[in-house]
Amino acid sequence: MVLVSAPGNIFLFGEHAAVYGKPAIIASVDLRTTVQIDKRGDGRIMVLSDEYGSVDETIEELSAKEFNSPDDYKDPMDPVRDVIKTFLTFNPMESGMDIRIESQIPKSSGGLSSSTALFCSLFGALNFFIGHKMDGDDFFEVVLPFQKKIHGGAASGAEIISSSTGGLNKLAFNPSFQKSTIGKQEMMIVIGNTGITGLTKETVSYVRSGWESDKKSYEDIFSKIEEIVALGERALKAGDMRLVGQMMDDNHELLARELGVSHPKLNRLVDAARKAGAYGAKLSGGGKGGIMVALVDKNSHEKVKKAIELSGGVCYLTKVGVDGVRYL
Ligand code: MEV
Repeated sequence: MVLVSAPGNIFLFGEHAAVYGKPAIIASVDLRTTVQIDKRGDGRIMVLSDEYGSVDETIEELSAKEFNSPDDYKDPMDPVRDVIKTFLTFNPMESGMDIRIESQIPKSSGGLSSSTALFCSLFGALNFFIGHKMDGDDFFEVVLPFQKKIHGGAASGAEIISSSTGGLNKLAFNPSFQKSTIGKQEMMIVIGNTGITGLTKETVSYVRSGWESDKKSYEDIFSKIEEIVALGERALKAGDMRLVGQMMDDNHELLARELGVSHPKLNRLVDAARKAGAYGAKLSGGGKGGIMVALVDKNSHEKVKKAIELSGGVCYLTKVGVDGVRYL
């Protein structure tokens, strides 16, 4: 039996612009997806998950499936089938597997990298099952094609780095990929879930069609976000939470007003958090629903949590910058 888990993530700064090569600051959070694999005596692949659904197919049936483009993901379990099929292509096996997936990451509305945590924990567990322990850095190349399909064709891969290696990191993609660790921070956040489904696939395509129609205007916004990332990084390293919060506010305004990826309920939760004393607040991830994140301290966190709840959000208090993939 093998047991492997991977965390979800929040973007402190830089989502969407990251898809266009701009840097982002992203942190793992202590809400995890865990995959358990046991050997079966027959040639079936059985997957069971309360959160995702189930698969019951022979190795031959699964191996014959084709998932070549984002449109080939028709069933919610197709990304899981795609990962297992790809794994089996490179690692043929005769005996089947019982795969159990459990997730603490709210998947219904999006914004916490539930798919990335699923891909990383599943790939990690499948490889560990055949005796290969993937290193944090091994996941990026392997998971990126699946991430791109989930995001409708384009993805920065930031979430893969964060879920696999954990921590609080600045990721730069241009001219080549670089990761710099921001280091351990005394940072308290409240996550507010709108309960509104925001599909990253749709928001990434939405921004892309805007960019295609007017590249200059969009690239100006991406550059403004890049400046926010640079100031945010400096503020984080200096432990200046007030400035970090202000940069989060500024980043939210650009995402909401300029890129158009917010939602009235996200804005409501963000406003409520700010009024209740958060240092700053912003949507996180693809937007148009999903979650927002508020930066708080021990004096404000209860008040901020209540304010978000009174505005219709569901709150999670969780640690930031936790381990990436864990072999249990
Ligand atoms: C989605 O959680 C974050 C985006 O920046 C997409 C990506 O980075 O691949 C919108």
